[in-house]
Amino acid sequence: MKILILGDIVGRPGRSFLKTHLKNYKSVHGIDCIIANGENAAGGAGITAKTANEILGSGVDAITLGDHVWDQMNFNREIDDLERVCRPANLPDSNPGRDRLFLEQDGLKIGIFTVLGRTFMGPKVDCPFQTATRLVEEMESESDFVIVEMHAETTSEKEAMGWYLDGKVGLVFGTHTHVPTADGRILKGGTAYQSDIGMTGPRESVLGRDIDACLGRFIDGMPRKCPVAQGDVGMQGCLLEINEKTGFAKSFERIEFRENE
Ligand SMILES: [Fe+2]
Ligand SMILES: [Fe+2]
Repeated sequence: MKILILGDIVGRPGRSFLKTHLKNYKSVHGIDCIIANGENAAGGAGITAKTANEILGSGVDAITLGDHVWDQMNFNREIDDLERVCRPANLPDSNPGRDRLFLEQDGLKIGIFTVLGRTFMGPKVDCPFQTATRLVEEMESESDFVIVEMHAETTSEKEAMGWYLDGKVGLVFGTHTHVPTADGRILKGGTAYQSDIGMTGPRESVLGRDIDACLGRFIDGMPRKCPVAQGDVGMQGCLLEINEKTGFAKSFERIEFRENE
């Protein structure tokens, strides 16, 4: 069983890229199911039911989210109707939406959840380590393979989560920084790990946003809009193969695909 996981989908360029390429990529690489983070899918900030359904229609099987989960007005009223979308699990219990998802494919049940980090992050969330412990305990009896997304700013907090869950889950992957790291590997306890898997969007950008606008913010500090960039669009993520007998990864690799490469 092969699973593709894609980093944060950024705006229309990211969504259009998936619509054009994902189904073909899936068949060429023999991929069974696809998970993607959609926290920047609508105009670069948040997601809507419409954009979520567009992404699912492009071949994504499950959408996770991050700190931008509620950036789009009304999404808090839409999320409960979206069966293949989950919000970060360590948000307050009163937040709407699912805190975990299960995918069933060829007799295998894959459990997925996201936790938000707390270092340099906005939302006031519960401890991601305690939440992860609770969810892993609750999910392990009903899943063959558990995937944990650590949506966080600092590499140290993500790497700590990787070691914390090593030997307990199949994969821990990071998102949020939109820049992939080169540390993808299988840890000594058997858990596949990568600190950040990157983004699905325009690389000719600052984290998916217009270069001049972002530069301006750093140089003169004046507030300005930072629209989604357009150039050099592609997808970044990771591809893992599950060992059905052990519940751990058989192989793990970082992937990057863009139209002209
Ligand atoms: Fe993001
Ligand atoms: Fe984020």
